[in-house]
Amino acid sequence: MSTYYEEVQEIKAQYPDGRSAALPALRLAQEKHGYLSPEALRECADALGTTPALCEAVASFYDMLHLAPTGRHIVEVCTNVSCALVGAQQVLESFEQELGIRAGETTDDGEVTLRPIECLGGCGWATVVSIDHHYRTHVKPADVPAIVQELRSGE
Ligand code: FES
Repeated sequence: MSTYYEEVQEIKAQYPDGRSAALPALRLAQEKHGYLSPEALRECADALGTTPALCEAVASFYDMLHLAPTGRHIVEVCTNVSCALVGAQQVLESFEQELGIRAGETTDDGEVTLRPIECLGGCGWATVVSIDHHYRTHVKPADVPAIVQELRSGE
């Protein structure tokens, strides 16, 4: 089984400039560490031959890369314009109420992180909610209790 460093070297070899492997290297580091902690960023930078600051700068741009710990499940509500026009804010507030946390927080049991997110590319199916990277479409506030129940019961 290859180490993280070896895996990144294999990816780097596919690009003329090793820094082009930053995204897959960050994804692998996140899988290994759970999130992109300072230690994970340092390990990523060492493998890429760059600085932790560059890795952090890249990671900070992408919603799927996490610079802070997250819950076991991640619920992301698109609040961009198409979703906002059909009530995304109310959907987000329903999740806040149902989970007992504010957007940006994780439940005390570490199960669910709730976040608003920019356009998920499903504007014609607003409101779009991503649950562990699987999209739910046309979500209404009334749908939220059942979605949370599903999450809690591990369905
Ligand atoms: S605005 Fe919500 S998916 Fe595009």
